[in-house]
Amino acid sequence: MAKAWGGRFHQVTDPRVEAFTESISFDRRLYAVDIRGSMAHATMLAHCGLITAEERDQICAHLDQIGEEIAAGSFEFRQDLEDIHMHIENALITRIGDVGRKLHTGRSRNDQVSTDLKLYTRDAIDDLDGLLLELQRAFLERCELDAGVIMPGYTHLQRAQPVLAAHYWLAYVEKFQRDRERLADCRKRVNVSPLGAAALAGTSLPIDRELTARLLGFDAVAANSLDVSSDRDYLVEFVFCLSLISTHLSTWAEEWILWFTTEFSFLRLPDAYTTGSSIMPQKRNPDVLELIRGRTARVVAAVPQLLVLLKSLPMAYNRDLQEDKLGMFGALDALRPCLELAPAIIVGAELRREKIEARLEDGFLDATALMEYLIRKGVPMRTGHETVGRLVAHCEARGCRLADVPMAELREACSLISEDVLQVLGTVNANRALQSFGSGGERSVSGQVLAWKERLRGS
Ligand code: ARG
Repeated sequence: MAKAWGGRFHQVTDPRVEAFTESISFDRRLYAVDIRGSMAHATMLAHCGLITAEERDQICAHLDQIGEEIAAGSFEFRQDLEDIHMHIENALITRIGDVGRKLHTGRSRNDQVSTDLKLYTRDAIDDLDGLLLELQRAFLERCELDAGVIMPGYTHLQRAQPVLAAHYWLAYVEKFQRDRERLADCRKRVNVSPLGAAALAGTSLPIDRELTARLLGFDAVAANSLDVSSDRDYLVEFVFCLSLISTHLSTWAEEWILWFTTEFSFLRLPDAYTTGSSIMPQKRNPDVLELIRGRTARVVAAVPQLLVLLKSLPMAYNRDLQEDKLGMFGALDALRPCLELAPAIIVGAELRREKIEARLEDGFLDATALMEYLIRKGVPMRTGHETVGRLVAHCEARGCRLADVPMAELREACSLISEDVLQVLGTVNANRALQSFGSGGERSVSGQVLAWKERLRGS
């Protein structure tokens, strides 16, 4: 097979080199954005008088057709044509000869590949935003399902203070909101057009970069052709966003895996999302949650992969950059199915209220409420802390709860304690007592549920 653009070569390429250097096996998924970019480029070339209007129409009609063939699976991919850009240009030239040979005027594959990647990433961001919204809505739905349920909150995985179940769900809504905002911010830098930077220096031809940017929905034109030819910052940012989303999903999965254990027994998972064991008949394993947690490894790995890829590259394009797509596609493909599956698990699960309630008085979840009661009575915080600490030790020795300690003994511990202490003792009371903005008590949480309902209604 003759070399593509082989004017200056005397030898054909070793097939092993073709196999080693190809990217068509993984960049063919860019075909639709490549065609979008080429159509905008051809439109601009005609506008600037570099090709005629008839040539533009011919190019666009055939690009359209090529796109349809690729979508239908009837397009032939070959290893000797390195990448998707060469495949499409080559097909165009085969079909319309010299007119097709004009498409690459005033551009290079270097700006073309970055344009394609940016269009692809922009679409992916918009798609992920929709999936994250569905995830937030699923957690919000759980707030209604679990209205009024009080749960232990943990630090160090030790029982700490009681919060409403909805407080847990809204914590995830908050995290995924930040993820959406981070993606939206990343989108700003994605949405700057590289097209027309050409190989690295721009071009002597009278192109109109503003026009291609506008046609492709970019907000701005990259101002330095050297910078933009080597820029993959937006991919690093994007995969970082993916890795944090994945990390958030993983913490949720981990928490629910714990809650699904016999030891916790807080949760029932829908049968459709659990699996059996090949040997132990009683088992129901949370494999989907485990794999959501496990996928995080692949997603997070893309961040160092891209950083290491970039760290020693001199300006501007270097072939190393071809590897950028593997990291990004890999991370996206690992994460997307997790986001698709998660909402069904979230709304399909069930809190085992009776089990949670049965142990709600374990672990002194009301200790901090009692300490704060003492503070309200005028006891210095550190003194209150010590007093309650002693009472807890006393209860532990006796095997009872704080609410079981007789009033006389409470008064002995601190003379400022009176009958109204009964309003803060016990887990339910301790939860009710929470009143600060953002706390896990009823007033704060119901206000947040309403606010989120309003916020997530449209978007
Ligand atoms: N296959 C290459 C990539 O994916 C396309 C750009 C090649 N540019 C070049 N000057 N060889 O990065």
